[in-house]
Amino acid sequence: MSPAHGFRGRHVVSAEDFSKDELLHLLDTAAFFEHDVGPRLAGKILATLFFEPSTRTRLSFESAMHRLGGSVIGFADEKATSRTKGESLADTIRMVEGYCDAIVIRHPMEGAARLAAETARVPVINGGDGSNQHPTQTFLDLYTIRKATGRLDGLRVGFFGDLRYSRTVHSLAKALLHFDVAMSFIGPPMLRLPQELRETLGARGRLGREVEGLDDARPLDVLYVTRIQKERFPDPADYERMKNAYRLDRAAAERFGPDLKILHPLPRVTEVATDVDDLPGALYFEQARNGVTVRKALLSLVLADADASGGGLA
Ligand code: CP
Repeated sequence: MSPAHGFRGRHVVSAEDFSKDELLHLLDTAAFFEHDVGPRLAGKILATLFFEPSTRTRLSFESAMHRLGGSVIGFADEKATSRTKGESLADTIRMVEGYCDAIVIRHPMEGAARLAAETARVPVINGGDGSNQHPTQTFLDLYTIRKATGRLDGLRVGFFGDLRYSRTVHSLAKALLHFDVAMSFIGPPMLRLPQELRETLGARGRLGREVEGLDDARPLDVLYVTRIQKERFPDPADYERMKNAYRLDRAAAERFGPDLKILHPLPRVTEVATDVDDLPGALYFEQARNGVTVRKALLSLVLADADASGGGLA
């Protein structure tokens, strides 16, 4: 079975649900989708259910759907929905599935997307569930890294910042297990990776170095920075203690040399100085733009009636 067949009608809940072949097929499809591919999803409807704030994920899914000729329904604020009257998530999903062909959900509760997928009869795509997973961010991260470096194997990738609560870090680290990548984890000890993920990586011999300072992480090919996840801290006092605990400034970035690629899922708060932005390796805005391309490819693979190979993607 070709990897394309593995996507059709499929839920996208966790990056680790996808094989290496499937990930590579998605990236290859996305590269093709850099070109205009026509209204492949005309007549299809995507529902975007965002129970948490978002700029990039929601708007790039919506843009992708519109660019493919489909339509979008949904909400960006649960206060405008009948959840405020006490409707359960499961009932909300059972209603919405009747209005659309696929659902993108973002929710503060870990496991919410899995729960929605167990209920829905249409594909559910996880747009981020608590601190757990953000698989479509991972897909566009992989796409950006491969586009910038020409490869995914043989790289040294450092994750910097709030490694404890950042779902983008958790998703990407698991996906990179498919590739020959040396991973390092950089940041304050209080924000280090969750123990379960440390054990998963450790069991595969891939936990790599855990260091506090950026200078201790050199050399790297890719530095993946993440903001402090204020909304995930159970104790606001801990957030206050940590909120300025790390930062990438231009001098620190330049010490890695001119070939360093700097990624960030955004939004940025203070953890990357704005004068880093014009370094040639600062890719975070391009990374966000790649979100439309990658989500176009994903939606087409999940929703298209025809095998994507029919569009010259085999
Ligand atoms: N990267 C990302 O998920 O951004 P948003 O929170 O704006 O969707």
